Amino acid sequence: MYSGQDPERVMELLRDRGLEASIDIGIVTGTGLATIVKEVENALEIPYDDLPGFPQGFVSGHARRLVIGNVGRLRVALLQGRSHYYETGDAQAMRTPIEVLLRLGAHSVVLTSSVGSIKPNMRAGALTIVTDHINLSGVNPLHHEQGDARFVPMTDAYDVTLRHRLKRAAASQGVALHDSIYMFMPGPSFETPAEIRAAALLGADVVGMSVVPETVIARRYGLKVAALCAVTNLGAGLEGAVPSHNETKRMAATAAISLRRIFDTFIRTLDEP
Ligand code: HPA
Repeated sequence: MYSGQDPERVMELLRDRGLEASIDIGIVTGTGLATIVKEVENALEIPYDDLPGFPQGFVSGHARRLVIGNVGRLRVALLQGRSHYYETGDAQAMRTPIEVLLRLGAHSVVLTSSVGSIKPNMRAGALTIVTDHINLSGVNPLHHEQGDARFVPMTDAYDVTLRHRLKRAAASQGVALHDSIYMFMPGPSFETPAEIRAAALLGADVVGMSVVPETVIARRYGLKVAALCAVTNLGAGLEGAVPSHNETKRMAATAAISLRRIFDTFIRTLDEP
């Protein structure tokens, strides 16, 4: 259970290791996507294993490291790798890392992840930005929290300005970026074909096992959120699709190349009007 003590301890540790200035933005990189931000200069790199409250241990395809440094004119904290609800049954698994972003001074966080697509026009290799989500899983990271702050409005969860900037960055690089409604699936088993058909009926465009708990936590603390997803497969049963973790990792690595171009432009232009 979340203790609420860890973020301050992490901040002390970061200062001990030479943390100097605050950051502008946090970026969480999902499976196979750790390399989407290139050339972080003067980087302070710390394995999650050294940071209390950060995801411990290993999931294949996930580097687990905090990298803080300069990209162009901006200060960036990269959370390379996440903990998913399915690893521990704890939807708050990313609470400490997100609270640390806040304490580091971030105003925004960009989440990245892989997803399965329900739309035939978005196939493996496509990139999409989340405009809204559906979470009917019963899982919420704010369960057990007391006080009125837990009643977080989710009407504009995915920040329209960040979305616009990411779209502009993608367009300037000639990279197509779809819009999607993201449906949270708790995993770790993939969906059944019937669940994918149900998700489509409900209005989802993509399904995934992350993003949503992190978005709820980030909104809880007033951080602006954007979520950028790599389509790694068609949803189970669509055109005979049988999703697998291997396929997810392989396709995410391919998508990372286009994502890197988007992020490069996005970060370079973030302090422009
Ligand atoms: N389902 C859920 N999560 C995913 C998928 C999927 O098909 N592909 C990548 N992440």
